[in-house]
Amino acid sequence: MDAILIKGGKSLNGEVHISGAKNAALPMLAASLLAGGKFCFKNVPELKDIESILQLLSSMGAEVDRQGPTVWIDTTELKSFEAPYELVRKMRASILVLGPLLARLKRARVSLPGGCAIGARPINMHLEGLCRLGAKITLEHGYVEAEASRLTGEEIFFDVPTVTGTENLMMAAALAAGTTVIRNAAKEPEVTALADMLNNMGAEITGAGSPVIKIRGVDNLRPVTVSIIPDRIETGTYMVAAALTQGVVRITGAQPDHIKAVISKLKQTGTEVAVAKDEITVTGCRPIRSVDIKTLPYPGFPTDMQAQFMVLMSLANGLSLISETIFENRFIHVPELRRMGADIQISGGNAMIRGVKKLSGAPVMASDLRASASLVLAGLAAKGTTRISRVYHLDRGYESLEKKLANLGANIRRVSENVPETL
Ligand code: EPZ
Repeated sequence: MDAILIKGGKSLNGEVHISGAKNAALPMLAASLLAGGKFCFKNVPELKDIESILQLLSSMGAEVDRQGPTVWIDTTELKSFEAPYELVRKMRASILVLGPLLARLKRARVSLPGGCAIGARPINMHLEGLCRLGAKITLEHGYVEAEASRLTGEEIFFDVPTVTGTENLMMAAALAAGTTVIRNAAKEPEVTALADMLNNMGAEITGAGSPVIKIRGVDNLRPVTVSIIPDRIETGTYMVAAALTQGVVRITGAQPDHIKAVISKLKQTGTEVAVAKDEITVTGCRPIRSVDIKTLPYPGFPTDMQAQFMVLMSLANGLSLISETIFENRFIHVPELRRMGADIQISGGNAMIRGVKKLSGAPVMASDLRASASLVLAGLAAKGTTRISRVYHLDRGYESLEKKLANLGANIRRVSENVPETL
């Protein structure tokens, strides 16, 4: 396992290019199961989670080829409808193959995704929705066993907006008989990107990006070529990095419209944010004003940016309240930030952050993807050296993180876990 060493205190300056979005690529790659033929995906990020879903698709018989950011998938011959535990446990978003498998092969056997560091993350709404469409679902030996001679369109009402639940049901409904209406649907840009791809494949989906999505089922779909949208969470992470280190960072290849809540909050801290077509230039400033955050479904402030913003607030000039309303255990980064000198009190889903003058570098441990990103950010701003272990968490969702940060002037290096090197 690797570790990352950071000698903090340097301001980040220069240009960084945003990669394709992990959370858009995952459902879109899964959608290749819906039609036999050769798909081409461009701007696919090189991430562990993408490797995992490509491994899963090839285990089902898809032919997968990758040349840098381009991935070809030929799903003409599928030989299995099973997503085994050893693959699903590595990446819970594998559940996204359930809807497409059921729609195309009428059968699916998908391991139940286990728990996750940030919360229980049940999939009841996925399963209830598929049952509404006529699937017969049983849970046995840790697997979802699903079958349906043909799915039929129905009205589905989600208790709360679920991103992958909306994506799974949209894919299943695309080949159902009749019309499906999903109410209280997730409105994330990744949902809209998937709907656009499905419509290019011949689906008839309207309303994606709004709370009501209508899917008129068709008899078959065709393979397409598609490009992955930029990663809004990677974009937000580099915006916070610039703000934290008082640098001037030009973020290119971004989609500013997808991250308006973070731009707005960052401006409230006094940080300068200049938005152009597909570029965002962030100029850090001091003092950083404290602001309150409440995570909400899109277009609200994204939960995937909560940990990163908490680091910024830990160096702000006052008190800020961060309420995490999406996941029940998404403050795993707090104990590690405290070890670096942050002053944070937690009560239930609320964290009260009192800004401090400085953070100090320390050995810390990554725990989940976005918590790990917050430790990197803290290391960049801290005085002294920070050593982050278990960085495989970062490799799941941030492409070439240390290279991109080093190009911006950070003193950062990846070392093997057991080398007690310091910078
Ligand atoms: C997606 O997860 C993202 N992952 C997450 O990003 C993101 O944090 C999350 O949406 C919220 O925006 C992908 O897109 C691959 P949900 P997802 O279903 O779909 C509850 C990252 O770091 N719920 O929208 O799993 C659930 O427990 C990851 O990139 C049910 O109760 O999240 C949560 O409280 C982390 N039953 C809420 O809904 C269900 O059947 C929203 O979860 C489904 C969800």
